[in-house]
Amino acid sequence: MTRTRTSQHSRRSLRAISFGTLAAVVLTSAVSVGVAATSAQAAGSTLQAAAAESGRYFGTAIAANKLSDSQYTTIANREFNMVTAENEMKLDATEPNQNQFNFTNGDRIVSWARSNGKQVRGHTLAWHSQQPGWMQNMSGTALRNAMLNHVTQVATHYRGQIHSWDVVNEAFADGSSGARRDSNLQRTGNDWIEAAFRAARAADPNAKLCYNDYNTDNWSHAKTQAVYNMVRDFKSRGVPIDCVGFQAHFNSGNPVPSNYHTTLGNFAALGVDVQITELDIAGSGTSQAEQYRGIMQACLAVARCTGVSVWGVRDSDSWRAGDTPLLFDGNGNKKLAYNYTLDALNAGGNGGNPGAGDCTVTVTRAEEWNDRFNVTFAVSGTSSWRVSIGLQGGQSLQNSWNAAISGTSGTLTATPNGNGNSFGITLYKNGSTGLPSATCSTT
Ligand code: XIL
Repeated sequence: MTRTRTSQHSRRSLRAISFGTLAAVVLTSAVSVGVAATSAQAAGSTLQAAAAESGRYFGTAIAANKLSDSQYTTIANREFNMVTAENEMKLDATEPNQNQFNFTNGDRIVSWARSNGKQVRGHTLAWHSQQPGWMQNMSGTALRNAMLNHVTQVATHYRGQIHSWDVVNEAFADGSSGARRDSNLQRTGNDWIEAAFRAARAADPNAKLCYNDYNTDNWSHAKTQAVYNMVRDFKSRGVPIDCVGFQAHFNSGNPVPSNYHTTLGNFAALGVDVQITELDIAGSGTSQAEQYRGIMQACLAVARCTGVSVWGVRDSDSWRAGDTPLLFDGNGNKKLAYNYTLDALNAGGNGGNPGAGDCTVTVTRAEEWNDRFNVTFAVSGTSSWRVSIGLQGGQSLQNSWNAAISGTSGTLTATPNGNGNSFGITLYKNGSTGLPSATCSTT
């Protein structure tokens, strides 16, 4: 039995193989259907597992006052492996009086995350909003120094425990100006952002340092261009910046742009990681689910898009709960948007098929014998599909289930036969052990 594997599905392949080893002598094609389902489940049955298949994280915002809600922590622990404090590390929370720091609630979140094996995004060291009263009333050199002291003290407190810090949040204006946002911090001088980044680097040299903003998703928008130009300038002058966070709060007035992967790709090409940091999408049903899928596909299409975080667990936890923008409903049930997100992540390693139409297909190696092996396919995005399967070398079709297959060697075509979106084939190897390729198109 060969144990050569394509990399991105190694975990599920190994599980399928060990089952196949046990079951090899008694398997019939009817049994194979059950095995195919097992292997598809192993393909990433949680958001964190599915994202991890391509080396990415999947995170959520966590509120310290919800850590006693067991439904909330059960979902959060199961689905996510990155945690952002929703409010507890902001300026008003961590320095309520000047030079009197309070890390109680931030520490509760870090401690919950670390004891459950999760990483932490720090949010946020410098921002015009949610400032403590004393800071709101400051200006000039005194404010600049207070801001730098805040960055230093907070980043030092959490030193070594933060995956990425949002060093500066929301420093650019909306609209067509491409200007900096007016704020007390901005009025201390245009170099306040780079000063904050340098202070953060000195305090915690191992954290990735991010600039984070919203309305920076559409490549053609002035605000996107302005942030891009700042990052390019920082990179060219050696200002320490490692990543750009895209908050990704979407609604009908600010929809997911069709050029999102272009935006992410162009920023990544500057030599920074990109992260989707606060994702939520107003809406419901298929329309909302398709937008979530679009975001996943955009991130998966960019190698340096290293992870996605949603801004809360259940709709009822959201800062804009009326928009029902998250992946779990108020009762903790998975929404359609969850299924589309999971499927897109599972398809990401080999079946993203960008440009192939509105559907994706995941290919999984299943049971294997000396002369033949099973391959299962899971289609997502439509129930009207055609999957084109490119066999390798001398491979030929022995058997199939749950789809109509035409052809026996070279290129096979699979279409639905009334048995849903998961199907499988058995291939004779004839010397070729590699997985076939597959592309999905809607019909
Ligand atoms: C929001 C929190 O979710 C709310 O609980 C709080 O009242 C206001 O801030 N952009 C950000 C986040 O960077 O910090 C904001 O979080 C949402 C918008």
